[in-house]
Amino acid sequence: MSKAFSIAIDGPVAAGKGTIAADLTNRLSGFYSYTGGMYRSVALFCLEKGISLEDEEKVAGILPQVEIELRDGKVILNGGDVTARIKEADTARGSSLVAMYKSVRADLIERQKKMAEEAMDKGQVVIADGRDIGTNVLPNAELKIFLTASADVRIERELGRYKKHGIVKDRDEIIEEIKKRDERDYNRDLDPLSTDPSALGYWVLDNSSQSEGETISMIIEELKMKGLLND
Ligand code: C5P
Repeated sequence: MSKAFSIAIDGPVAAGKGTIAADLTNRLSGFYSYTGGMYRSVALFCLEKGISLEDEEKVAGILPQVEIELRDGKVILNGGDVTARIKEADTARGSSLVAMYKSVRADLIERQKKMAEEAMDKGQVVIADGRDIGTNVLPNAELKIFLTASADVRIERELGRYKKHGIVKDRDEIIEEIKKRDERDYNRDLDPLSTDPSALGYWVLDNSSQSEGETISMIIEELKMKGLLND
């Protein structure tokens, strides 16, 4: 078993974070913390209860009723598997709205830190992806990756992801959706996505022209170079 350490993977919408994080989790028998799934779950709970996503006070009020578990790559909301449901467009949009609220961020970041600590206490490598993992959730992560890709590649990946979930989307609709979510993620007051990740100690990895396997190989090499994995 590898010794416990953590890997932060931040980056914009559809840069490939989830795919890379899931693959790394399998290889390292680690714990995958899909933090975006938690913001999506809060949005889903509000949508189901008819709570306006524009109303921070109301959204904050439901947080004690929202129990989220991240288990075996699945997102469990109040005991139900919502992994596929939260990939839909309403929760994608809603997640970046609720993620702007201080109350929501403070609550979820605390949960994310606790989950990571528990996994590391059990000797598991933690692989967490999101927007503020390397800055807020796991500021001491042994490896911080800022995963990015060109706009065209991200659009294709997002189209492919919807297709995989049986959702047919128009290309223009995807372009608009990514643009809006990026705008919110980069420009919000709290924990915005970094526009200068290298300055914050991230290793910036543009995987536009790489296969998943090539990106994973580069990360494994980096972990070996840092002495976190054996040859
Ligand atoms: O990663 P994913 O696209 O599923 O995340 C959904 C949304 O949740 C993001 O667009 C972002 O607004 C928010 N998020 C965040 N901080 C994180 C993870 C996700 O603000 N650590």
